[in-house]
Amino acid sequence: MEKGVLLTGGAGFIGSHVAVALINAGYRVYIVDNYANSSPDVLDRIERITGTPVYCTKMDVTDRVSLRNLFRCVSIESVIHLAGFKAVGESVADPLKYYRNNLEATMMLLDVMLEHGVKKLIFSSSATVYGSPEVVPIPETARTGCTNPYGWTKLMSEQMILDVCTAHPDFSAILLRYFNPVGAHPSGLIGESPSQPPTNLFPYICSVAAGEKDKLLIFGNDYPTPDGTGIRDYIHIEDLAAGHVSAMQYALEHTGSEIINLGAGQGYSVLDVIHTFERVNNVHVPYEIASRRPGDVAVCCAAPDKAERLLHWKAARSLPDMCRDAWRWTMTRTR
Ligand code: UD1
Repeated sequence: MEKGVLLTGGAGFIGSHVAVALINAGYRVYIVDNYANSSPDVLDRIERITGTPVYCTKMDVTDRVSLRNLFRCVSIESVIHLAGFKAVGESVADPLKYYRNNLEATMMLLDVMLEHGVKKLIFSSSATVYGSPEVVPIPETARTGCTNPYGWTKLMSEQMILDVCTAHPDFSAILLRYFNPVGAHPSGLIGESPSQPPTNLFPYICSVAAGEKDKLLIFGNDYPTPDGTGIRDYIHIEDLAAGHVSAMQYALEHTGSEIINLGAGQGYSVLDVIHTFERVNNVHVPYEIASRRPGDVAVCCAAPDKAERLLHWKAARSLPDMCRDAWRWTMTRTR
């Protein structure tokens, strides 16, 4: 039987793009998703883009019986674990929901992987584990510390995986710390469609440009940055997906653990993003200055050189590409 990659949370924004990249790179992909923040419609779209039938099971990764059955039924060589709740505000309001779901999912997966001798894991972590960074651009060696329960579930999951690697020297894990993934597949067929109202900058700008919302609130213009608005390291989702394929190749050839930033290494302010979005898409994005959002930092940018050195991967797409592709997807979504 052909060995494949298990992709948890594979119907989500990041998962659907990773699935396309893996299939295009010749991997056999098995998706599991409970559709908590995604929809099965995406499977048909992945098939249209890749021309390959997609195998997907509706399943909660915390369900040990179903997970075991899956590992028995299909031949899995490696796992990319993306499933998890990710709304920062909700995690503050309902922390136990986040600790229970996100930590149990990672624990269950590791348990069942070890049971079945599957020893290759890529984990979706986040730059949120750096909290308020002391140095920017942020290297992987920077001090960690989180400002919300969602972030802690990422950091705690990282620790669990590192401990498993220590206990099992033949295990291989890559912990990918994403910066700000945005944009969409250039076909306009898949993209970000959160089931809750958008809170992140790109989906919000798209909603305003599409007339679904009146205006964007810019959270603070008094940061110590050139134009006073917050600076982030936006990375095109296609680049991020390619980073997973490179990480998978690396994991298959090595043992041990590596923590790797996936960012472009280039920061843009909120105003840079708005102006670029308006220019490349020929749309208007009305905005108003509001007060700072609690928990936000002035600047968050990756030192991306470890990914380049180890994975031979580097972000290639520009801010105009991100804006163009995000808007193309919005037009499909709202049509
Ligand atoms: C946020 C999360 C982070 C998570 C990431 C996932 C918070 C505090 N942080 O990061 O934990 O991993 O999303 O993508 O929620 N902005 C506005 N107006 C808006 C929305 C955003 O001005 O309506 C600004 C923010 O202040 C920030 C920038 O846009 O300067 C980016 O914000 P966002 O897209 O929410 O990402 P992060 O805050 O970096």
